[in-house]
Amino acid sequence: MLEFSVKSGAPQEQTSACLIVGVFATGELTSAAKQLDKACDGKISALISDGEISGKAGETLLLHHLTGISAERVLLVGLGEPEKFALPTLIKATQAAIQALQNRAVADCISCLPQVDITECDLSTALRQSVIAASNAVYRFDTLKTKKNDPARLSSVSFILNEGSDLAQAEAALAQGSAIARGINLARDLANMPGNYCTPTTLAERAEQLAEQHSQLAVTVLDQKEMQELNMHALLAVARGSAQPPKLIVMEHKGGAASDAPVVLVGKGVTFDSGGISLKPGADMDQMKFDMGGAAATIGTMAAVAEMNLPINVTAVVPSVENMPDGSALKPGDVVTSMSGQTIEVLNTDAEGRLILCDALTYAERFNPAAVVDMATLTGACIISLGRVPSAILGNNQELIQALIQAGERSHDRFWELPLWDDYQEQLDSNFADMANIGGREGGTITAAAFLSRFTQNYPWAHLDIAGTAWKVGKDKGATGRPVAALSEFLMQRAGYTTN
Ligand code: BES
Ligand code: MN
Ligand code: ZN
Repeated sequence: MLEFSVKSGAPQEQTSACLIVGVFATGELTSAAKQLDKACDGKISALISDGEISGKAGETLLLHHLTGISAERVLLVGLGEPEKFALPTLIKATQAAIQALQNRAVADCISCLPQVDITECDLSTALRQSVIAASNAVYRFDTLKTKKNDPARLSSVSFILNEGSDLAQAEAALAQGSAIARGINLARDLANMPGNYCTPTTLAERAEQLAEQHSQLAVTVLDQKEMQELNMHALLAVARGSAQPPKLIVMEHKGGAASDAPVVLVGKGVTFDSGGISLKPGADMDQMKFDMGGAAATIGTMAAVAEMNLPINVTAVVPSVENMPDGSALKPGDVVTSMSGQTIEVLNTDAEGRLILCDALTYAERFNPAAVVDMATLTGACIISLGRVPSAILGNNQELIQALIQAGERSHDRFWELPLWDDYQEQLDSNFADMANIGGREGGTITAAAFLSRFTQNYPWAHLDIAGTAWKVGKDKGATGRPVAALSEFLMQRAGYTTN
């Protein structure tokens, strides 16, 4: 992890391996860039007039040994159009700048970017998100390579603040950002780990390790027998075709009064989704190791909450199984009885996420939750409707949904709402049970949520479909840790840490 700090003072006088300053696409300089430009006799503005950097968001230009400037290097970074400058551009520019320094002999740097005024974003939020962006930029997953990547040279990042800024408050924001970044890293590590390394048992062990590190965190793991006693037959049915035993991981952060109703997070933990007897096609099946992205984000968020020691109660319920086909596997047509007592006709064993979630959501009732938020890589249809930009959000309580959407905006880890109207429920009609586990091709993300809504009648509930956002494909293939940032922001707000 990078070390973060804040300081004040004139940029040209800072000693550092590299100073990061912003320039706009209009050629306009930020105030830090202006001060540097003056100190080096107009070298920076000359380079801009020469077209060496256009100022497009995320573009970078590295300069060495400018006369009149104490830092060894100056990294100019494009901030786009000044009137469009907002949190998303700050994050993009910070990530691009840190990436540009990655493979150079730069051990420390100082960013002037949080000095730029941002509309609708206070300094603490800007710093917190800068920390997260920088940490995401240096993240590597080489645990399973025998030849490791070159050790990261960049080890510390400092931010210069405007005169008169509250340094103590800024330092608190850095600490929060670091806690969230560590939670994101944990979520990314867990999700990147393949199915033969990350099983339901491994997830349970990682959760238990966290409890050892934080005294206010308690973890209990329910095994197959205990779930049988609770009648979690929908969850257990999914696990039947696998050699890996299922686990129900319960994590309780007790930061509030004992009588305070907790927020309950529920995360889908399918450590590998082969589809079961309704076997998936071979292409890209490896990506189904990421099908525990909801569990990873839940555990990552709990780690962040515990590290910040938020003064609220937060409980996590993580149902974890492997979805495999064998002679005892769940079959299409089978009818299972959920913990709630409702029966389910399993028309497709690949719609397994909702089968494990429904029992976890019923289990959540015992905590008398103030709100329940589940997150799951639930439907391929989500990627068709929204692409890989926002996660989908649906639920039964607008106040909760709006609070999550706002938190997603503040962390640039966004959600977009889909309608959960009653009209969709009939797609789940079954001739043989109370409901079917699939609702046909149309509106697949919504019918999946409609299925879950039958198990969440007794509390305010929001569902996050993170199928398109939990991991990236292509050359940056790998887990993103989403939506740890948004959920941390949401919980911080519930704890009274942020005002807007
Ligand atoms: N884990 C998948 C959803 C998924 C697929 C996420 C691809 C990301 C990329 C889920 O368990 C699943 O298989 N869903 C089915 C549901 C269908 C059978 C109703 C799907 O989306 O095809
Ligand atoms: Mn599936
Ligand atoms: Zn799945």
